[in-house]
Amino acid sequence: FSLQPYNTFGVDVNAKYFAEVQSIEELKNAISYSRKHELPILLLGGGSNILLTKDFDGLAIKLSLKGISEEDLNGNEVLVTAKAGENWHEFVLYSLEKNYGGLENLSLIPGNVGTSPMQNIGAYGTEIKDIFVSCTVLDLESLELKTFNLEQCRFGYRDSIFKQEGKGRYVILEVSFKLTKKDHRIKTEYGAIKTELENLGISSPTIQDVSKAVINIRQSKLPNPKETGNAGSFFKNPTIPLTQFEDLKQKFENIPGYPNGNEVKVPAGWLIEQCGWKGKQIGNVASHKLQALVIVNATGKATGKEIFDFSTEIINSVKEKFGIELEREVNIL
Ligand code: EPU
Repeated sequence: FSLQPYNTFGVDVNAKYFAEVQSIEELKNAISYSRKHELPILLLGGGSNILLTKDFDGLAIKLSLKGISEEDLNGNEVLVTAKAGENWHEFVLYSLEKNYGGLENLSLIPGNVGTSPMQNIGAYGTEIKDIFVSCTVLDLESLELKTFNLEQCRFGYRDSIFKQEGKGRYVILEVSFKLTKKDHRIKTEYGAIKTELENLGISSPTIQDVSKAVINIRQSKLPNPKETGNAGSFFKNPTIPLTQFEDLKQKFENIPGYPNGNEVKVPAGWLIEQCGWKGKQIGNVASHKLQALVIVNATGKATGKEIFDFSTEIINSVKEKFGIELEREVNIL
């Protein structure tokens, strides 16, 4: 069964078995089937943060649970719950149509609601932890439902319990967010948003305007996975000790960095570009010409292994030039 339509890199690998589930019952049935036949399982959400490097000798399960519900909290805020299989950006658009604030900076992020807590998706000054209330999961050990609140998720930069101790144990079924109904908190501190709003001639932006600005920025430099296979940022932005950053600054005076206490976050895109990778293609794989941090399936024919090897070369050259070890953000199978 080809998994090509289920990963945004558009890599063509096969799974021995495939099931698409639309309810908790169907999910449980698929899990029991895998146990009875001793098959490993591979959970697929939007497929936008995974690199498949080989065929999968088990049961791939596509999570397609749908539905959005709301509960008024206090007149000012609303608790909105979306099921795992809802497309993230459509969910953002739904909230904006209702004039609910909180998700606008996260417009146009690929993927589904169910995988958003895994890596605490974030962009343009917002992370989902800022509006997250809880998520309901199926515990694959007990086959019982559990709820994780904000604290229990232990969100960090592109990180959560679901990437750490909970890895492979929980299937996220639905996620609840607290959104504003009025007195929206407009977040335009991120430089690119400010500039884009100025370009649009907007001085007192609404949440819809912020969303529009974010969409424009993303469309101007990130490749559309429907046209060119990719999984967004391939690496995390590394955090290094301040002392190391100061040493690097001696040698590379233009190196950008966002200080945070005794540490500095350095944009991986800059490091990769400095190593000459931006726009560079080897075989079927390239670093995107407008954003070096994004690796693309340039010809549509790349294998997962080719993409993986390309990413290893980037890691090696950044390590050699800057002494910084990049970490992949995308999950590798
Ligand atoms: N830069 C370069 N060359 C490049 C790309 C970036 O020099 O080719 C430098 C520039 O100095 C730029 C800085 O990097 O000012 C930051 O670039 P950008 O604003 O594009 O953001 P990013 O740090 O590369 C992160 C997230 C993105 C998110 C944007 C906007 C990570 C790994 N990536 O990218 O998230 O959309 O910020 O908030 O944190 C994703 O996770 O898939 C993703 C796209």
